Amino acid sequence: MLFKKSRTIQLDKDNIPKHIGIIMDGNGRWAKKRGLPRSAGHRMGAETLKKIVVYCNKIGVKCVTAYAFSTENWNRPQKEVDALMDLLYMYLQQVEEQFAGTNVILRVIGDRSRLSDKINKAIDYAEDYTKNNTGLILNVALNYGGRAEITEAAKLAANALSKGEISEADITEEYLSSLMYTKNVPELDLIIRPSGELRLSNFLLWQSAYAELWFADINWPDFSEKDMEKAIVDYQARNRRFGKV
Ligand code: IPE
Ligand code: IPE
Ligand code: MG
Repeated sequence: MLFKKSRTIQLDKDNIPKHIGIIMDGNGRWAKKRGLPRSAGHRMGAETLKKIVVYCNKIGVKCVTAYAFSTENWNRPQKEVDALMDLLYMYLQQVEEQFAGTNVILRVIGDRSRLSDKINKAIDYAEDYTKNNTGLILNVALNYGGRAEITEAAKLAANALSKGEISEADITEEYLSSLMYTKNVPELDLIIRPSGELRLSNFLLWQSAYAELWFADINWPDFSEKDMEKAIVDYQARNRRFGKV
């Protein structure tokens, strides 16, 4: 008699994406469904990030870039912006509890000039507290926009050119990559966007050139380790051609 083997998904340990970008979307809808304020969704989303980062570190992902606040999110009602900033501050303030024993290195990417002094101090403290860890690098993208990042790189290049530090021929893709926030982390392999929206919303525009994209109809606060595993298994089944045959 033949028994059908139940198929379990298996991660290929030799093909774990090195760098995963996550657009943490759907917090508001998660809260609305439960009759809660949007801020409750954001709070739950922060918990989810911690859980997913711990899982990614365990399976050998080197870097996670998590989109927490975009350059366009300032256009939300002031009350929501304030609630998000308060939550970010709290998250950073609790760096000891949040990151103790995780071996995760926390870094913030994005334009910090528009963030309050209080938040900037908390970022400095949190980055310093985790800087000697040796595990996964967690880039939290705050006041981040892909276009702003590329514009900033163009300004840095123009500045170096006008000072005679470089010549026009030095402005290569590699050079511009070295001016991006992701200069010290592996190439982006995979972008995950939950919530059902099928767009990048200004996330990692330069880095996503050959990243695989994975979308799901799950709101971020509901995203589980199993969902992450499924995304990676799907990623591993893709044929990344990079323009070749
Ligand atoms: C993502 O969730 C978090 C931020 C953009 C800060 P949203 O707040 O966008 O949640 P939805 O998309 O309205 O459900
Ligand atoms: C993208 O989500 C930004 C973050 C998750 C931080 P949004 O909710 O802001 O994106 P849109 O408005 O749906 O494109
Ligand atoms: Mg959204």
